[in-house]
Amino acid sequence: MRKFITSALVAAGLAATAATGAHASSGGGHLDIKTPDWSWQGIFGHFKEDQLQRGFKVYQKVCATCHNLKHLYYRNLEQIGLPESRVEEIAPGKPREHFQAGMAKSTAMATFNTVPPDLTLMAEARPGGPDYLYKFLLSFERREGHTKLYNKAFGNFVSMPRPTWAAASYANEPVEGTKEQKAEDVTAFLRWASEPNLEARHELGIKVILFLIVLSALFYALKRRIWADVH
Ligand code: HEC
Repeated sequence: MRKFITSALVAAGLAATAATGAHASSGGGHLDIKTPDWSWQGIFGHFKEDQLQRGFKVYQKVCATCHNLKHLYYRNLEQIGLPESRVEEIAPGKPREHFQAGMAKSTAMATFNTVPPDLTLMAEARPGGPDYLYKFLLSFERREGHTKLYNKAFGNFVSMPRPTWAAASYANEPVEGTKEQKAEDVTAFLRWASEPNLEARHELGIKVILFLIVLSALFYALKRRIWADVH
């Protein structure tokens, strides 16, 4: 029986790992920036709605001039608690359409000689995931004799200017907090944007585990009944 329970637990563990997708991150430890404890990590992990809303405001004001989120629909914003009326304000008449932000290719080429990448999957795209993104946002530095800034996390000079954190606001609601806080919030928002259905997936994982536990208990009871007659 012990063996059976062990294998059931192993199966449950495997199911849980599969369900959460095990977002282990390597974090690129060479940088001296402490990364936050992200709220969504682990099987019971979940996004914090107020953080996502602040992060969205940061994105809107500080990143959207240059970067799009082409896989996200405006109506997805209702999932982070924005009322329909607000979504309508943000994207009049097109809540069912994909985000249309960022910079025209020609303008970007003329300005940066490169095109700012789409950010929908960025929080997962680089080794280190959200930790990398967070560090990238806080690692811009000027180096003597260069027009471009050096970014330690990126490991090179980068065409992106330093984010204008102070500008973060939406409809006369400034986003409060330090640049670290804003970097954390926008990273959380972008992590959510890369997978708006993460919470549903976690819930499913928990249900699978509960189901396996109940099933093991049932089998155990059944086994005892069958063997009770034999003994
Ligand atoms: C003024 C335009 C501009 C703004 C505003 C801007 N970026 Fe960028 N960003 C760029 C450009 C240009 C690049 C490409 C840099 C390169 O390849 O040298 C880039 C690259 C990036 C990258 C890719 C780094 C990598 O590993 O390749 C990330 C992530 C990023 N930006 C995030 C953001 C976030 C988040 C914000 C808002 C807080 C933001 N950017 C604001 C222009 C901008």
